[in-house]
Amino acid sequence: MELSGQTALVTGAGKRIGRGIALELAKNGVSLVLHYGQSAQEAEETAHMVRQLGVDAAVEGCDLSHPDETQKWSQKIWQKYPISLLVNNAAHYPKSTYKTIDSNMLQASMDLLFLSPLMLIKQLHASTESAAVVNVLDTRMANQDFQHVAYHMGKRALWKATKDLAWELAPKTRVNGVAPGVILAPPGANQDWESRMAGTNPLGRIGEVQEVASAVCYLLSAAFTTGQIVYVDGGRHLKGAES
Ligand SMILES: NC(=O)c1ccc[n+]([C@@H]2O[C@H](COP(=O)([O-])OP(=O)(O)OC[C@H]3O[C@@H](n4cnc5c(N)ncnc54)[C@H](OP(=O)(O)O)[C@@H]3O)[C@@H](O)[C@H]2O)c1
Repeated sequence: MELSGQTALVTGAGKRIGRGIALELAKNGVSLVLHYGQSAQEAEETAHMVRQLGVDAAVEGCDLSHPDETQKWSQKIWQKYPISLLVNNAAHYPKSTYKTIDSNMLQASMDLLFLSPLMLIKQLHASTESAAVVNVLDTRMANQDFQHVAYHMGKRALWKATKDLAWELAPKTRVNGVAPGVILAPPGANQDWESRMAGTNPLGRIGEVQEVASAVCYLLSAAFTTGQIVYVDGGRHLKGAES
């Protein structure tokens, strides 16, 4: 499928992986609606970079912590822009264990990582004749993450929805996922993070933002592919089974 000339909404596009995805899409001729939560200035910087690549960019803010608000926001956004491509990238990464987790922590992760992305997918499907979604997941959903339980459950829910919705929304809307491994250190990580994490996958290094962004672009353009999860993780998912 030709990406050039289409418009994509990328959530959490102000910095880090979201910015990389936006720039890769722009290189492929895609106009961007760049979502941010708090990083308005960084999102404007991303927009500037996108425009330098010769395509349009708009910046829109929304707190995705409240799915009902996300739904209202999405109605306005799809009235304003002809969005046919959606990348659900925004996330958080709070620590939680089964011993410390409470219902608020679990609900917060479900709201941000599963329910708000679901609202955006539903609006895309309702508004567009031919559409494609990539949900950004996490390689660790292939086994477990006992230090980030709420996050893990939210990503697992989105992973399951990716497969279910690929079936449910076909043929109008394709739904795929990209599951990164270790790419960027979380804020506050120790200096030895990169060398420690490089040894956690068979290919023996951390991945690059560009590698995640390329996989996202491929899946958005792959017209005969839906319900697929591409792991960009140096093979780390081989440590565990998906289900
Ligand atoms: N980094 C890695 O190595 C890695 C590994 C595996 C999977 N992933 C996945 O890849 C994606 C990108 O990773 P990343 O490390 O670049 O992500 P990140 O920096 O943790 O978060 C991306 C963006 O999400 C937005 N966000 C967070 N809470 C929000 C809220 N309540 N409302 C609106 N926006 C909110 C933030 O936007 P603002 O700054 O504008 O608030 C943030 O910049 C995520 O889905 C992550 O789970 C990353």
